[in-house]
Amino acid sequence: MTSNPSLGEPPSAAGLFFRRWLADPLGMGSIIPSSSALRRAIARNVRRTGDQIVVEFGGGTGAVTKGLLANGIPGDRVWSIEIDGELARFLSHLFPGVNVVEGDAREADRLIPAEHVGNVGTVIVGIPMVMLPRPLQTEIIDAIFRIMPPGSRFLLYTYCITSPLPLAALGLKGERLAWTPANFPPASVWGYWRA
Ligand SMILES: C[S@@+](CC[C@H](N)C(=O)[O-])C[C@H]1O[C@@H](n2cnc3c(N)ncnc32)[C@H](O)[C@@H]1O
Repeated sequence: MTSNPSLGEPPSAAGLFFRRWLADPLGMGSIIPSSSALRRAIARNVRRTGDQIVVEFGGGTGAVTKGLLANGIPGDRVWSIEIDGELARFLSHLFPGVNVVEGDAREADRLIPAEHVGNVGTVIVGIPMVMLPRPLQTEIIDAIFRIMPPGSRFLLYTYCITSPLPLAALGLKGERLAWTPANFPPASVWGYWRA
């Protein structure tokens, strides 16, 4: 957890993100975390009613989590699923009030408590889906819809100009909800639901 154990210093988010990108460029998908403009655009599009929770697929170093908390979503209503152990430990230290789970988002229905399965207001996908083979995309999308009520929409942020997911092939409908040039690279937020 420490970048310099002798000084007890936590790693910076940017430094850790870059180091994990070197270890797994495809899984990380970017060399730096999402910007404040992008996290605001994501948070604005989160839907959640009553006691519903919000689930992040791929928490990274917490840029999106930060936006959710800043937008008033209580930490105990946020679940962040992160496959990389070092990143998951970093997130747990950074956000002690958020539910951070180390694991594969494809198993989201087993990673979040059973009482929340089917009562998730929004899933936010940080996993770089566009780089994944179709069967893996399908598995992740199936995992999303297993934990959301019928008719729900999930969010995906991307650097692609057009939809990063092939709508017809994956049985989805989607629309671009936001775009910001204030991210490196410029990024869009897409919403998707079952066709
Ligand atoms: C582009 S980063 C997003 C990080 C952060 N949300 C941000 O905006 O800066 C993608 C993250 O997804 C994680 N990831 C990739 N595949 C995953 C999976 N199957 N389950 C959970 N996390 C995954 C990676 O480890 C990485 O932290």
